[in-house]
Amino acid sequence: MASILDDEAVVERVLQHISNKTTDEADEVWREPVSNYLCQQRLAGEKQQVMWRWPSVFCPSAALPDKGSYLAREAAGTQLVAVRGTDLKVRVFRNACRHRGMQVATGSGRNSAFVCPYHGWAYQLDGELSHVPHEAGFPGLDKSCNGLVPVEVREQDGLIYVVQDPVPGCWNALEDVPKILNDSQIIFDEQEYVVEANWKIFTEGFLEGYHIKPTHKESFYPFGFDNLALLETFGNNSRITFPFRRIEKLRGAPAEERRVDGRLTYVYHLFPNVMITVLSHFTNILILEPVAIDKTLTRAWTFTNRGKVDSEQAIEDARRDFEFVNNTGAREDRAVVEAIQKSIRSGANEYFTFGKYEKLITHLHRGLDQALADGD
Ligand code: FES
Ligand SMILES: [Fe+2]
Repeated sequence: MASILDDEAVVERVLQHISNKTTDEADEVWREPVSNYLCQQRLAGEKQQVMWRWPSVFCPSAALPDKGSYLAREAAGTQLVAVRGTDLKVRVFRNACRHRGMQVATGSGRNSAFVCPYHGWAYQLDGELSHVPHEAGFPGLDKSCNGLVPVEVREQDGLIYVVQDPVPGCWNALEDVPKILNDSQIIFDEQEYVVEANWKIFTEGFLEGYHIKPTHKESFYPFGFDNLALLETFGNNSRITFPFRRIEKLRGAPAEERRVDGRLTYVYHLFPNVMITVLSHFTNILILEPVAIDKTLTRAWTFTNRGKVDSEQAIEDARRDFEFVNNTGAREDRAVVEAIQKSIRSGANEYFTFGKYEKLITHLHRGLDQALADGD
């Protein structure tokens, strides 16, 4: 199992970089062909050979809190619906009625059964077809063979993962993923928004600290450093750590006081298209769905960091932090990636060059190339 540094080791490494005026870096430079951001066939491969075959986060467990809680959404081009059953197990189905393919659920909510809005075929929460109105019209229909079609699902450490097109050993990738969420965090915001950029351009923006000073001059940079980040990988996934200046207060502090809360941001990339950002008072789970070659539908769930005890204060602190980030740094990042997308057909670049500080982007592209090659 691949592993990442614990908080104490992170603090140690950050303080060393501050003293030495250094940062984590790779040995190599990566050149990614711009055509890979423009090619429809490449995008189809990224969805069908990578996203369908890799354990991909469908939603957090907390989005399905009760028996009957469901959530429907598109995942790598496929309409799926997840539901927590009466046995508390989460199941995920292809969101299409077995009569003529109507979606049996939209959005999210709580149900005791799925009743197709078209002609009323009804399915239990475990997917079984339980009722067909005027069933005499379908002589020979075997209801037991016409339940909702399941996809493989696992729940691990507060996240629900699906594999739409399983290959042997595909679930082993989850062994690399550490526990990121804790059980007491509360969802206080959910959003869905379109970013007018290829999903990889959007993802790349999370994975390096080289841009912090020029892009976030008045938002993040005053709290942080210029080009100082820890870059770690685990399996095809990665974590980037952005320290705040106040982490220097920990210099010389005894080990038990070296707490990282409020002193750094962790950004986890769960391959291929999920980001989990852990800031001072909130944690964001973002799923970057490619809905077109130049369009990403972002689905976000935002959690408090602190728990259910003192929940009002935890939500207030989280919301304040969240609004600051949304109105400043996140907006700046989005403007950059959308501007890149607008110029991507300018003909200026045959390749995008990712330097030594952009190691985690290289890691993403290596992982994608490998998964595409394996999928052929
Ligand atoms: S399409 Fe669902 S009942 Fe007809
Ligand atoms: Fe940024």
